[in-house]
Amino acid sequence: MENTSGRGTSRRISTLSRSVEDRRAIVTGAASGMGRATAHLFADEGARVVVADLGEDRVAAVVGEINEVHGEKAALGVVCDVAERAQLVNLVERTVEWAGGIDILVNNAGISVPNDSFQEEDEFEAVWAHTMDVNVTSQARLVRYALPYLLAAGGGRIVNIASTEAIMSMAGLMSYSASKAGVTGLTKSLAVELGSRDVTVNCICPGPIRTAMTERFPDEKKEVYARRRVPVRRYGIPEEVAQMTLNLCLPASSYVNGVVIPVDGGLTIRHI
Ligand code: NAI
Repeated sequence: MENTSGRGTSRRISTLSRSVEDRRAIVTGAASGMGRATAHLFADEGARVVVADLGEDRVAAVVGEINEVHGEKAALGVVCDVAERAQLVNLVERTVEWAGGIDILVNNAGISVPNDSFQEEDEFEAVWAHTMDVNVTSQARLVRYALPYLLAAGGGRIVNIASTEAIMSMAGLMSYSASKAGVTGLTKSLAVELGSRDVTVNCICPGPIRTAMTERFPDEKKEVYARRRVPVRRYGIPEEVAQMTLNLCLPASSYVNGVVIPVDGGLTIRHI
């Protein structure tokens, strides 16, 4: 393309697109927090978005918000419990019926339930199994079900949401930490496997972000924690994570594969 800026006569050498216009994206856990922010941001950038989450009303509310801004064809809601295999299959089928294919998968749904070595046996087993199912096994399954479509589309993008708990840990979240470390391992394995097939797989580790998941901590506690631990000295907002997810899904991010990116205000690199 000719340089029309008037600054010199050289030709423009950048070739890679920074647009997700008309790309078809599934976002799990999209009725709240970072998933909701991600679904909105993708729609704002011209993508067609499938909002997948628990609860018909919650899903419909986010679809309504997006379609109000971008029109009827911008978003589809699918009620989906990611811990249930049949519901993941249904999510893929509904997406393909609606959009004709899948270009982007954001595995974001997650739960954080207290769980430790001293817990009563049955309770420990139940929390451990469900946390693994929701936080990590569902990601592997949904990749497998969506893969034929991601391969067919060419330039497919997968982003898995882990946590800084995959890198550093607090007591009392045993299954959560283990599941999020599992997400980083899953991401690397998939990235090696799918890199040669024109599908990239990357992972984000959000630090402390203001969402329903962290609502249980009072504001005062959040502020003290952020001042002591986070170089940026505050909690993040969901959009700050969504913007990184978008970056990883751009056609221009074609050589970014298998990375684990903290979006944490510097939490994980702070020594003292
Ligand atoms: P959130 O609670 O606002 O959103 C999580 C969403 O996942 C909810 O809408 C929930 O209904 C959905 N979900 C839970 N179980 C599900 C299931 N079985 N099937 C389908 N959807 C299900 O929380 P937030 O913070 O937006 O969480 C998004 C992701 O970010 C999660 O994977 C979480 O572990 C991760 N994360 C959050 C951090 C934070 O500080 N808020 C920090 C690091 C990671």
